[in-house]
Amino acid sequence: MNRRVLSVTSEYVPLVKTGGLADVAGALPSALAEHDWDMRTLLPAYPGLIARLGDVTQVWADDALFGGQARVLMGRLDAATVLLLNAPHLYDRDGGPYGNPHDFADNPQRFAALSWVAAQIAQSGTSDGWTPEIVHCHDWQAGFAPAYMALCLPSAARSVITIHNIAFKGEAPAAMLGSLRLPIEAFNSDSLEYWGNLSSLKAGLVHADAITTVSPTYAEELMRPQYGFGLEGLLKHRAADFHGILNGVDETQWNPETDPHIARHFNKSTLAHKQHNRTALMAEFGLVACDGPCAIVVSRLTDQKGMDLLVEAIPDFLQAGGCLAVLGSGDPHIEQDLKSLAQSNPGRVGLRIGYDEALSHRMFAGGDLVLVPSRFEPCGLTQLYGLRYGCVPVVALTGGLADTVINATPMALQDKSATGIQFHPVDALAFGQALRRAVSLHQNKKTWTAVQKKGMSQVLGWGASAASYADLYESLIV
Ligand code: ADP
Ligand code: GLC
Repeated sequence: MNRRVLSVTSEYVPLVKTGGLADVAGALPSALAEHDWDMRTLLPAYPGLIARLGDVTQVWADDALFGGQARVLMGRLDAATVLLLNAPHLYDRDGGPYGNPHDFADNPQRFAALSWVAAQIAQSGTSDGWTPEIVHCHDWQAGFAPAYMALCLPSAARSVITIHNIAFKGEAPAAMLGSLRLPIEAFNSDSLEYWGNLSSLKAGLVHADAITTVSPTYAEELMRPQYGFGLEGLLKHRAADFHGILNGVDETQWNPETDPHIARHFNKSTLAHKQHNRTALMAEFGLVACDGPCAIVVSRLTDQKGMDLLVEAIPDFLQAGGCLAVLGSGDPHIEQDLKSLAQSNPGRVGLRIGYDEALSHRMFAGGDLVLVPSRFEPCGLTQLYGLRYGCVPVVALTGGLADTVINATPMALQDKSATGIQFHPVDALAFGQALRRAVSLHQNKKTWTAVQKKGMSQVLGWGASAASYADLYESLIV
């Protein structure tokens, strides 16, 4: 008999994605099925999503959900069961999941509604007789669900919240308390109050039965002021219930042997074929042929991701023979700096502002290096994709980047355990030195190939992580 878990998320591959949360939420159901957990995923019915499911059945309804009519429609996608919360007054809008382009003013209500429905389903189940034993909430968007479960809608279900990015705390003015259906008695610093306001993330961290984040190192970092964004005290207080579980790679989507987006398939025995993808990538970005490494960046263009450091450190790398292809979008000032960098280095720096899933696959397939100079990185997925595709990661020593890359020290090169390059502190100087190490490593073909192959041999699938989630769920319900 399968165990039952409801995953509550604002993003889900292949339906809606702005970052790694979507990859993770999309990969969890099949990974957990291996451990006999039947995971259903609840997410908002943004425009066009219902049609993507094909046949749907209505399994829940409320005529007055935060100001309008709401229905939950259940359908299948690949092997997973998806529950779309169809509430047109909240979700039927042009733009991304959170804004167009600025955040929607009623985001607190939009995601409180999602959380409320999760707590309702935990209490009374869906109309086909399915009631979750665990409600697994992702980030601030689902943060109120554990609070509703604890304070308003009691049930036998236990709750887990995963922190993917603590920088977003789901803040809302205290005056919204009533309209968010939160009890006034809980407006104190041990429960809902956060610096005089509300924070759905804090509410989730206080009230969930267990807390996870997406790598062991980030779990430790989060309990320090430098990384905890003011929530370090709370997380330390909850240390016994707080676990770091590393993300995996969805190997059905990210596999250089079968990837439908890339020019030439390869694996570690046919690594020479990667050259074909490299040539195609350089042509696509208008880069002139060079002997040095072709570096790629696929990223949100934000300070978190250290993109300002990239702009500072890259000229020396170009001088040393490297070239760079960047795909991303984000802060206008970073976009502008990158445009200037590309303009002043024609044929050496190529830039695509925007979001393009297929292009990102071609970049990992063709790139020699993937650069991830993040100031903080809960897990990071692009270094994992790099490892899978023989695109050697150059990463800051922080969070999941510290847990997933083995630094090419002389010793690690000698015993052939190295898979990439790490640098610390996270500044332009150390990043520049790391890039110089990458250039000289790339010159020694034998060592270089050994590093690529070691990375490609690393076990990066969801197996171990899914087992950890299954163990955690079970520990909560027995
Ligand atoms: P974060 O979630 O903090 O943005 P991750 O590394 O965990 O960082 O995940 C980012 C995900 O989004 C990866 O799957 C990456 O390939 C993808 N991605 C980021 N920017 C783009 C883009 N401009 N085009 C295509 N994919 C992108
Ligand atoms: C967040 C983090 C990223 C992580 C992703 C998925 O967006 O910034 O490091 O990989 O969530 O957990």
